[in-house]
Amino acid sequence: MKFRQIHLVSRPSGPAASLDNFAVVSCALPASTATMAKNSVLVRNAYLSLDPYMRMRMSDVKSYAAPQPLNAPMLGGTVGQVALSNFDGLKVGDWVKLQGGWAEYTELPGKACTKITVNKDVPASAHLSVLGMPGVTAFYGMRHLIRPKAGDTVVVSAAAGAVGSCAGQLAKLAGCRVVGLAGGADKCAVVVRDFGFDACLDYKAHATPKELQESLARECPSGVDGYFDNVGGDVLNAVMPLLNPFARVAVCGAIANYQAAKPVPLLQPNLILTSRLQLTGFIISEQPKKVWDEAQAELERLVAQRTLKWKETVEHGLENAPKAFLSLLRGGNVGKQLVAML
Ligand SMILES: NC(=O)c1ccc[n+]([C@@H]2O[C@H](COP(=O)([O-])OP(=O)(O)OC[C@H]3O[C@@H](n4cnc5c(N)ncnc54)[C@H](OP(=O)(O)O)[C@@H]3O)[C@@H](O)[C@H]2O)c1
Repeated sequence: MKFRQIHLVSRPSGPAASLDNFAVVSCALPASTATMAKNSVLVRNAYLSLDPYMRMRMSDVKSYAAPQPLNAPMLGGTVGQVALSNFDGLKVGDWVKLQGGWAEYTELPGKACTKITVNKDVPASAHLSVLGMPGVTAFYGMRHLIRPKAGDTVVVSAAAGAVGSCAGQLAKLAGCRVVGLAGGADKCAVVVRDFGFDACLDYKAHATPKELQESLARECPSGVDGYFDNVGGDVLNAVMPLLNPFARVAVCGAIANYQAAKPVPLLQPNLILTSRLQLTGFIISEQPKKVWDEAQAELERLVAQRTLKWKETVEHGLENAPKAFLSLLRGGNVGKQLVAML
């Protein structure tokens, strides 16, 4: 039997990635455990997580992680069910989370998989969103870096996305006024109505960072105490002058720069000194296990209480992963962008 993977076959030649950078490759499935390595499992992936960081790794540029290898499956997180097992810790049918890549099936050491609980309240896909890496990212940036207090004003960019929607809800739970920034009136409506933010501004409806800053100032009459920055660029330039003395900025992502011809410069770096700001960049995969365990336990508690909401945008079929990925980079998703393969 055969299964499909998606390989990166060329690097983007300009700022934007394109469908030509990817190819579907057909591979042979192991027929039985007899042909598999000792202590390995074969997982049938049910959902693939598409994440903005994948765009950075498609280019051969200096970053915190090595570039995605060419002519190899795109790297990425998946959840799926064990289809064959040579590993004592996992049996056929178990649900697991893994770095399965853009692939319908993945063979890997059993110890590289994490067993997950799936039930009617917690679907498998939640382990790639609110209970997975995006949720832990939101939790770490908000609780450890922004450290919101009741009465603070917190701004969150990419507020309708996987990380931003969770980060804003955590700030609301801490008793803050929470103002989101998102692209388009429909997304802003979702951020307020479904994720419970106090307000959300459509950054695309503002012609300049100055105009956005003026609108944001009206929504943040006491200034801004914490900014969860998912985008960088012009939006960061609009928020910075509104930051109160000693404000905290969790520098989580810079998606405005991932496909830009030139990085957008920081317009007022002097504010870091004059407002005594704490801007902290972080990469969640570098955080120790104890941070992940703390975050996942709290996120699971909030999900079980139905206090924390999440949304998904699901594309069907592995062959559509490149199209869904390019759509994510253009803002086509609300909540977590996934590809379903079952
Ligand atoms: N530091 C870490 O460890 C870590 C971990 C996970 C994610 N991240 C980063 O966190 C950010 C959010 O990730 P996510 O997975 O939750 O993605 P997401 O928010 O679900 O999707 C990305 C969103 O970014 C917005 N966007 C795209 N281009 C933009 C631009 N030029 N200016 C402003 N917004 C733009 C789009 O929303 P709009 O329609 O609202 O524009 C798009 O939907 C990304 O920058 C990602 O790289 C960092």
